[in-house]
Amino acid sequence: MLIRRPPDIPSSEITPERGYLDRRAFIAMAGAAAAVAAVPVLGRDLLARAAGGGSARAGGSGADKPTPYDDITHYNNYYEFGTGKTDPARYAGQLVTSPWTVEVAGEVRKPATYHLEDLLRGQTIEERIYRHRCVEGWSMVIPWNGFSLRNLITRFEPTSRAKFVEFTTLYRPSQMPGQRTDVLPWPYVEGLRMDEAMHPLTMVVTGLYGRPLPNQDGAPIRIHVPWKYGFKSGKSIVRIRLMETQPATTWNTYAPSWYGFYANVNPDVDTVRWSQATERRIGEFFRRPTLLFNGYGDQVASLYEGMDLRKDY
Ligand code: MTE
Repeated sequence: MLIRRPPDIPSSEITPERGYLDRRAFIAMAGAAAAVAAVPVLGRDLLARAAGGGSARAGGSGADKPTPYDDITHYNNYYEFGTGKTDPARYAGQLVTSPWTVEVAGEVRKPATYHLEDLLRGQTIEERIYRHRCVEGWSMVIPWNGFSLRNLITRFEPTSRAKFVEFTTLYRPSQMPGQRTDVLPWPYVEGLRMDEAMHPLTMVVTGLYGRPLPNQDGAPIRIHVPWKYGFKSGKSIVRIRLMETQPATTWNTYAPSWYGFYANVNPDVDTVRWSQATERRIGEFFRRPTLLFNGYGDQVASLYEGMDLRKDY
C-alpha cells in the first residue's frame, strides 16, 4: 500500500474563531516561557510540561496545545540570518518589511508587481492552529493568521498551462547577514504542484497569535503547508511564478537525495540524514510518533493517489 491512513486524526485543524487563548493566558504563557528560557534543555522541558506546556502523548487532549509565542519566535530556521536557531531572532530586526512588493509572473493572465496592501485587500484573515514539522525532527503547533493561498492565486487568473508554483524569497544581503555567506545558494526558492498550492489548507501567513508576523518567522508574508516538512514553507516571499514545469528549489537542488521536491511528512521514509519516525514537540520532553502527512492525511492523501511516496519523497 502506498498511502497509509494515519490513526485517529481530527478532520479539521481550522479554528474558525479566536478563543484558543485569552489575553491573560497568553501573557502568563509568554511569561512562563521567558522565565524558563535561560535554563538548560532538560530542565526547560520539564518546566514547560509542569506549566502545562504540552502533553508527551501522541493524540488525546492537549496533544496540539499551541507552542508558546516565545518559542515560535526564538527557535527558527531562517538561514538568511544565520544557521543557529536563535540567529533569526537576534538579527532579523534589521530587515525592513515595508514597503513590500510581490511580483506575480509566469502562467497567469494578470502578471504584475503588486504592493502587499493590494494583495491583502479583500482577504479575510483567519486564525488557524497548524502543526509544523521540521525535517530536523522537531515540531511546533502554531496559531497562524492568514488565508488560503488559493484565494490569492485565483485572482491572478492562472492559465491552463500552470502546473506548478514557484516561490522566491527575499535577496537582500545588506540586511540579511546569512546571505553574505554561501551556506545556501541565494535566494531561497521553494515550490508546490498546482493542486497542492490550491489546497485550502495551504496558507499565506501574515501573523501569529493575533500579532503581526515577526521578521524571524517570515514577515511580511510567508507560506505554510502543514502536511509538508517546514522547508517547503518559504519566508518573506517576493515573487510567485506559475510554471508549466517543476521549479528547481533550493534544498532539492542542494541535496536531492536528502530533500525531495514533495517533502510530505512521512514517518516511514527516512531522509538520508535523519529518521522521520518520531519528533520532539518543542516544549515537551518525550519524543512522539510522527504522523503520515503530519496528521492531515484525511484532507490531503488523495492528492498523491497512485504515487509511490518512497520514490516521490
Ligand atoms: N524560508 C527562507 N526564506 N529561509 C529559510 O532558511 N527555512 C525553512 C522554512 N522557510 C527557511 C525558510 C525551514 S527549514 C523551516 S523548518 C521553516 O522555514 C521554519 O519556520 P519557523 O522558523 O517559522 O518555524
